[in-house]
Amino acid sequence: MVIIESIDKMKNEITAYKEKGLSIGLVPTMGCLHAGHISLIKKAIEENDIVIVSIFVNPTQFGPNEDFDKYPRTRKKDLEICRTNSCDFVLLPQSDEMYPEDFLTFVEVKSLGKVLCGISRPTHFRGVTTILTKLFNITKATRAYFGQKDAQQLIIVKKMVEDLNMDIEIIGCSTVRENDGLALSSRNTYLNDEERKDGLLLYKSLTLAKNLILNGEKNIEVIKKEMENTINSGKNTSIDYIEIVNSKTLKPVSKVEDNILIALAVKVGNTRLIDNIFIDLREKAI
Ligand code: PAJ
Repeated sequence: MVIIESIDKMKNEITAYKEKGLSIGLVPTMGCLHAGHISLIKKAIEENDIVIVSIFVNPTQFGPNEDFDKYPRTRKKDLEICRTNSCDFVLLPQSDEMYPEDFLTFVEVKSLGKVLCGISRPTHFRGVTTILTKLFNITKATRAYFGQKDAQQLIIVKKMVEDLNMDIEIIGCSTVRENDGLALSSRNTYLNDEERKDGLLLYKSLTLAKNLILNGEKNIEVIKKEMENTINSGKNTSIDYIEIVNSKTLKPVSKVEDNILIALAVKVGNTRLIDNIFIDLREKAI
């Protein structure tokens, strides 16, 4: 496994593989790798000749009062995980090379980035789409792998690739959960025992919504109210949003329809957690 910190070095290494017609799988991450990230790496290994994991805590996707400084940085363990999982390259870009002082350009997917998490994190998604554009260009990846855990991010990245005719395939991978349903997240490391228990309420409320819908409930307000009650039963929870939206446009639906995304963000103590499920009624599968 080769560890690369310089943009030019990464570009040069990859050119040789591209010339041979080999496929490149990219797994972009911010590190503190867990089984969710590993599931993306495994899929990338299955589907590509060469796999690159990038690890970069991207400053432009954090708001001024967010957790950029305290975001967990566990480089040694991350590298070990990449090595054990047979990654070919780990790209560790340097902040001053990614964002030099004269950096001026941002990529923004307009309306999709302004709803759901975009309301309380107004500059978040343009930071994400900007860093991903850079990583796609640097690695010349054939495919890039994203978790459904960050459903809005996945939908926005797909839209960016479509709108800007980027030559890359975006692959969405299912959310990996703990046995008790908590979606794995690097931010779970912030939770104390009591908060972790409250964290379970996110998936509990999503499961409740799913069951209501599968039993024929069509009324969005009824479903949202039940979810709200579940979340509010926690001692440390405060709801940022609970939304039921069309899974492509992210526009709120007025009644349950074929392809929906149920998404929520909840503050548990000081930690903001997100979770979601997609429901495709035609498949009856989630
Ligand atoms: P990060 O939070 O490190 O997540 C990296 C990738 O892992 C994302 O695609 C995310 O959806 C996926 N992931 C996280 N938890 C998961 C889980 N429990 N199951 C499945 N996949 C999971 O998302 C980012 O970093 C950044 O925004 C990034 C895309 C790297 C841009 O900076």
